[in-house]
Amino acid sequence: MKNKIPLVLATRNSGKINEISAMISGLPFEVLSVEQFPGCPESSEPFSTYLENAKDKAKVVGDFCQTWALADDSGLEIQALQGAPGVLSARFAGPGATYRDNWEKVLREMDHVAANQREARFCCYMVLYHPSGKSFQTLGEMKGEIATTAQGNQGFGYDPIFWLPERNRTLAQLELSEKNKLSHRTKALELMVPHLEEISRSVSQI
Ligand code: IMP
Repeated sequence: MKNKIPLVLATRNSGKINEISAMISGLPFEVLSVEQFPGCPESSEPFSTYLENAKDKAKVVGDFCQTWALADDSGLEIQALQGAPGVLSARFAGPGATYRDNWEKVLREMDHVAANQREARFCCYMVLYHPSGKSFQTLGEMKGEIATTAQGNQGFGYDPIFWLPERNRTLAQLELSEKNKLSHRTKALELMVPHLEEISRSVSQI
């Protein structure tokens, strides 16, 4: 097949765009960013679940661009906080909260929690959507614990307080390439690859 299949990523985050492009570089997709579609609307992530938000992000972009669209929605879930911050991860400490405001609030709320009850996970729901109505969804997870103090300055979001017992470090103490090998987004994308392969096979048969 000569022509590549357009695939728009429903994100303006250049880190995510580079990661995804690298991972599917062997497949016949032309990875595009929403920036290449002037006037492309953005989902306001209005729902109370990651999956609904990821579906909405992909649909809004796919319908506007009339191509396959790939979106994700992710967050941190802490058992001792009954799953919080969850879908509100980006704004746990209130509207306009910084990453630091958010992880400081988590540390305060976890102050009383014993060392053996600090389990947490990141999860990422990924949705691949086509305006014909076809869609696929995957879930990636990364398990760890909430540290008692922030450590490290790599990464973003809750990385300074997300402790990986098997590495004896927080995520913010890992190089980005190391983090990307373990991350919830990478796992969700890995599970999406067979669907992308299936699409490329069916298009090449037309
Ligand atoms: P998004 O849906 O991927 O934009 O993520 C929502 C929020 O979850 C972010 O603003 C972060 O606070 C948190 N988050 C998601 N992924 C990560 C990660 O890999 N490290 C740290 N925080 C994350």
